[in-house]
Amino acid sequence: MKLSPSELPINLEEFELLAAQNLDKQSYDYFRGGANDEVTLRANVAAFQKIQLLPNVLVDVSKRDQSVTVLGEKLTMPILIAPTAFHRLASPEGEIATAKAASKAGTIMVFSSLSTTSPEDVAAATDASLWFQLYIYRDRELTRDIIQRAESLGYKALCITVDAPLLGRREKDVRNQFSLPPDLTIATVGDQLAKDMAAAAGNSSLNVYFENLLDQSITWEDIDWIRSICHLPIVLKGIHRADDSKRAVDHGADAIIVSNHGARQLDTVPATIDMLPPIAEAVDNKIEVLMDGGIRRGTDVIKALSLGARAVLLGRPILWGLAFNGADGVMLVLDLLKKEVDLSMALCGIPTLSKVKNDLVI
Ligand code: FNR
Ligand code: LAC
Repeated sequence: MKLSPSELPINLEEFELLAAQNLDKQSYDYFRGGANDEVTLRANVAAFQKIQLLPNVLVDVSKRDQSVTVLGEKLTMPILIAPTAFHRLASPEGEIATAKAASKAGTIMVFSSLSTTSPEDVAAATDASLWFQLYIYRDRELTRDIIQRAESLGYKALCITVDAPLLGRREKDVRNQFSLPPDLTIATVGDQLAKDMAAAAGNSSLNVYFENLLDQSITWEDIDWIRSICHLPIVLKGIHRADDSKRAVDHGADAIIVSNHGARQLDTVPATIDMLPPIAEAVDNKIEVLMDGGIRRGTDVIKALSLGARAVLLGRPILWGLAFNGADGVMLVLDLLKKEVDLSMALCGIPTLSKVKNDLVI
């Protein structure tokens, strides 16, 4: 799509409007939705708007640097791409387009277990830095095989999502009887599982997929099992509470992602940004703390960093960029947010991210 500069989106919210024009109703509803009444979905964004910034003035901000190190890797900005499913619903090139944008932007893409492109194809098509997001299947040999594939393909971390023993109920997906079109599959595990998933009548087939194939019995002992068979750094995604963050440290996680899954799992949990401070305090710098949920502005990124996150992840806005214009659209989203972070740093009086302290917010 060719747009003149004056027609390009000027903030992340505008991408959603443009993306909606390129998506069928089922896909748009799936990407946008949150669980039940979407109380937490609204809260994730609103909570950032309630936090106020208190800038320092007369600081030399003529040189600004927003690079950051996450699990030992230097990124150009404190923003990673969150794992989200089914990118080929948004654009024909799907996950490969997203990975190309991650590479160009100098950040990490977390590849979802439920991708419509195989981990092999994404690794082969780009030189992006990739983490692998894992859902634990009841079939432990399959789970082990997935982990080993991720390792041998050069994925740099294993990100285990721990907030989804079952899928939250997104009511529009139930109403639409969400399913993948016949030409798409869950590419990591092949056709058969996708066929099982398509057999769900009167429900989102993804709900049925989770019920039938993923393991509802997983506990901290299974994290120990994965730790014992996996050589990659382990990131636990979906931590809500300080006590669980301490357990994550005790069970050998290298990082956690404070997340409510973009408000798609348990409705009425707090906005992620409100969960972050007690967790950051409990972790006490023993491991890295990341967060996601509701990041839409550069100021949101700065607020998350000042409340204890090392970096943030972006979910839906990446999908909107992808649906808008493939890899270029994702690049535009990342670039826009990076520029907003840069301007926020200048106006807050913080030339580098190491200067972001929690007295920057009230
Ligand atoms: C997700 N998310 C998600 N998380 C995960 O661990 N594995 C997955 O496959 C998916 N899939 C997925 C699909 C869609 C359409 C969305 C919107 C989200 C959750 C995602 O990683 C992240 O936690 C949230 O999207 C962050 O919130 P924002 O940025 O969307 O507000
Ligand atoms: C979702 C799953 C796939 O949020 O994580 O739709």
